[in-house]
Amino acid sequence: MKRIAIFASGSGSNAENIIKYFQGNKFAEVVLVLSNNPVAFVLNRALELNVKTIIFDKDQLNDPVWALDNLLSYKVDLIVLAGFLWRFPLHLLNVFQNKVLNIHPALLPKYGGKGMYGIHVHKAVVANKETESGITIHYVNEHYDEGAIIFQAKCSILQSDTFNDVATKIRQLESRHFPEVIQNILSENG
Ligand code: GAR
Repeated sequence: MKRIAIFASGSGSNAENIIKYFQGNKFAEVVLVLSNNPVAFVLNRALELNVKTIIFDKDQLNDPVWALDNLLSYKVDLIVLAGFLWRFPLHLLNVFQNKVLNIHPALLPKYGGKGMYGIHVHKAVVANKETESGITIHYVNEHYDEGAIIFQAKCSILQSDTFNDVATKIRQLESRHFPEVIQNILSENG
């Protein structure tokens, strides 16, 4: 049984969806949700679904002993960033090589980088009159949104779409594909 840890900073709709997908699945389970935000709704969702939670601050995340001890004590095989807004520390990337994934709500390399997250991405897509957007699931490296791309899915954007309409389309893509992509990665890596 593979063990997944999710890092999230906000609402946690992806985290909830991933937890539910793997509940009752013999192959993998979400064992831990970690958040930098003590009032993030993701913590309520995790508790409701009986998944352990940890809240941390910047010093803890950047402390190799604290961070690694926690992840190793839960025997984590794969780390999933689902709406996690801090830079993921290099010391953990060195230990979990090719085992940290992120989801981004746009077709990278477009609309990536610092400050490009959540609704800011959708506002930029609408402002630029894009005719399509989508999601990117990628490995995490030391630069924001620049790791190797694993999967992308697209949706059309109408000229009448508001950024909220775009957000809805993106949420649908995320919910349809993210858990399945995680499952495929885990099975490919044995
Ligand atoms: C998701 O749309 C995710 O793609 C995005 O934040 C949202 C989190 O929603 N991530 C980024 O923008 C990362 N740069 P959720 O908390 O409901 O899962």
